[in-house]
Amino acid sequence: MNMNRRAFLKTTGAGLITSVFPLSLVKIAFGGQGPAQDFSFGYISDAHIQQIQGNNFVRNWDMGLIRAVREANLLTPRPDFFMFGGDLAQLGKKEELDHGLEIMSSLRGKVRYVIGEHDYYLDLGEYWQSKIGPLWYSFDHKGVHFVTLNSILTYDSWVNKKWPSPMDRMLAMARLDNPQGSPFMVGREQLTWLKTDLEKVNRSTPVVVFSHSPIQKIFKPWNFWTEDAERVQGLLKPFEKATVIYGHVHQIEYNQIGNITFHAVMATAWPWPYPESYSQKASCMPKLTVHMNRADPFFERDATGWQFIDMRKGKVSMHYQLPDNKNRSVVFNSKIGKPQDVNYQGYGSRIPPQTHY
Ligand SMILES: [Fe+2]
Ligand SMILES: [Fe+2]
Repeated sequence: MNMNRRAFLKTTGAGLITSVFPLSLVKIAFGGQGPAQDFSFGYISDAHIQQIQGNNFVRNWDMGLIRAVREANLLTPRPDFFMFGGDLAQLGKKEELDHGLEIMSSLRGKVRYVIGEHDYYLDLGEYWQSKIGPLWYSFDHKGVHFVTLNSILTYDSWVNKKWPSPMDRMLAMARLDNPQGSPFMVGREQLTWLKTDLEKVNRSTPVVVFSHSPIQKIFKPWNFWTEDAERVQGLLKPFEKATVIYGHVHQIEYNQIGNITFHAVMATAWPWPYPESYSQKASCMPKLTVHMNRADPFFERDATGWQFIDMRKGKVSMHYQLPDNKNRSVVFNSKIGKPQDVNYQGYGSRIPPQTHY
């Protein structure tokens, strides 16, 4: 991808849009059968539309999504479709989902959705399904098999315990540190469906999985975690190229586990900081091959911005354009067998060097 956001805005005559707003749009290209087969799709995630009262919503979160939609509408050539990566609402209310969908309705092009825990735990996806559609599904597009999972399910015993109200259940799951929550999972029913779905797919066909939580185990205290991640990874193992794209973490995050490439997409609402334990407690990340780069803790919008992902090689290859912050490129380095942030990560050092802005 040679897309440069500033150049793009210039050529589309949208120079008046400054780069200080939170955007999370991923543009992705595939080259399975050569350049003629390339296509791109856009990705917007984690809007967290939050109702204050009546028609009043938290303006910052509204604006993040509105800006993302506006800029996505300027993309030329047009992406083949868009994905929304989950957490459209903050507390799963109809008003929040309706308002979020109203903003999303301005997006020109086909849009598909992944459900997040903030959309789900009030009514267990009932309103979502009536307005948007199924919680998991697959489709094919130009030689690529796409799978959308609902990865934020959890144990029935937790879901069905005697909550004072459905909103209490929602609030328990909505907290970041989540002391009353429960680990996310894909669950047996969906794993069975996924196994059957993937059996029909040729092993040389690129497979892309959209999930809300990471299909890897990163940080359990914040539920940056999917309890049965290994089961999903196991089903993806036979494929030559498998990619997982997820939201939820509101962070710059990437990984390569064998044939599976992981990309987190940034949020339009706000960035989460990186827990100290990411670099200090290796046990929190048993299978990560790279450690997190620390975002600038003094800049609240770091880890929001534009992100361009090139999926041609089936390995991590990403370019970040961050508002008022240094751009970054993360590329799989075949010599060391890991993705490497070219500006921030030297080989061998467990904790990446810190850069002061
Ligand atoms: Fe989120
Ligand atoms: Fe989430």
